[in-house]
Amino acid sequence: MTGSNSQLNVDGKTLDMAIRKGSIGPSVIDIAKLYSQTGMFTYDPGFTSTASCESQITYIDGDEGVLLYRGYPIEQLAEHGDFLETCYLLLYGELPTASQKADFDYRVTRHTMVHEQMARFFQGFRRDAHPMAVMVGSIGAMSAFYHDSTDISDPHQRMVASMRMIAKMPTLAAMAYKYTIGQPFVYPLNSLDYTSNFLRMCFAVPAEEYKVNPVLSRALDRIFILHADHEQNASTSTVRLAGSSGANPFACIAAGTACLWGPAHGGANEAALQMLQEIGTVENIPKYIAKAKDKNDPFRLMGFGHRVYKNYDPRAKIMQKTTHEVLNELGIKDDPLLDVAIELERIALSDSYFIEKKLYPNIDFYSGITLKAMGFPTSMFTALFALARTVGWIAQWKEMIEDPSQRIGRPRQLYTGSPQRDYTPIGRR
Ligand code: CMC
Repeated sequence: MTGSNSQLNVDGKTLDMAIRKGSIGPSVIDIAKLYSQTGMFTYDPGFTSTASCESQITYIDGDEGVLLYRGYPIEQLAEHGDFLETCYLLLYGELPTASQKADFDYRVTRHTMVHEQMARFFQGFRRDAHPMAVMVGSIGAMSAFYHDSTDISDPHQRMVASMRMIAKMPTLAAMAYKYTIGQPFVYPLNSLDYTSNFLRMCFAVPAEEYKVNPVLSRALDRIFILHADHEQNASTSTVRLAGSSGANPFACIAAGTACLWGPAHGGANEAALQMLQEIGTVENIPKYIAKAKDKNDPFRLMGFGHRVYKNYDPRAKIMQKTTHEVLNELGIKDDPLLDVAIELERIALSDSYFIEKKLYPNIDFYSGITLKAMGFPTSMFTALFALARTVGWIAQWKEMIEDPSQRIGRPRQLYTGSPQRDYTPIGRR
């Protein structure tokens, strides 16, 4: 949609730039001709004022704490939908009819097994490797196993690659977990739904019957919905940038997974739980609040703050409710970590430092407690995030590839290095 124009005066030259309006949210100033007309670039490290693309998938209003997938509020999807329905919505733009949903579930379910040779590929990793290291490696390796779905110019191959990744990510994540604890891999069981199947692949052992707890399965499914997409965050932008060069989809998702691993992004759920464990008791909280406020101390309250949300992260609210449901179901009455989390949240939300900087709990603040109660070790938290975010990455990658105006992403820079100079032979330096 096109709106009015804006004008920029640079060195006495006036440049007219179109203002493009979105369906909701901030408009953008189209600066695509800025360099050719003024010889200057814009400078926006961290991209706080830059829209890198046009997208119809996910919308966030950070001031109001709103998150919409294809227009639907996250609260409604988490309450009424399931994860595969959310996957369909993100990929195709509309909620599925009953027959579309059944067909989609069937197609995803029929791709859950990984090539048997992948199991041998896993043997190359050290047993103590972090599951995210194993995920980055094994997702990238999929391009070596599934050559018949790496041609990005073929819509059928793109679709098959998308299905494969959504379907196989739980299998790979469960294998990464089983590998680190030295237990045999558990094959997928297609009579189970997506999330129950994942729980079984993680926690079943051949020696015993395993019965999926429906409350835990539903809670984890909701956690997957909450993590499914989040517009142009660091890992999604990584997937788009990698994909813009024409790289195959498995390589792009491996790149996104690598980016997600960082503690400022997907690694924060692991870091948040470690922080709660380090704080240990409610009495220690003031000391950690003081550390978080101290400019000379690198410590930050993990699970607090967000680049976009300057209000309560809507996902954190649903997550908090889910945490209570899971702890109730498991009969965990007094979890000291939960006590620390609730009190930490209460103190931080009434502290002027956090109020002024608009630092609210984000999704990662409560997710760690929930996943730990379900039996996942902290090292698996980010792998679970990657599993759930895969559909968002794929939907964004697919949108980009299908856009006829798509070009390779190539940011520019403000060069502050040495001007041109002559080479000095080593003996004269
Ligand atoms: N604890 C203490 N102070 C903080 C925190 C925090 N968690 N987060 C931001 N601040 C302060 C920061 O020191 C800065 O202060 P000043 O203006 O005086 O320099 C101000 O708030 C703005 O911070 P920023 O680093 O410029 O903000 P950003 O938008 O670049 O960073 C963030 C956003 C999420 C990386 C950051 O808030 C953070 O490091 N939070 C902890 C890690 C975390 O929970 N990450 C998960 C994000 S949600 C899941 C996901 O999307 O992956």
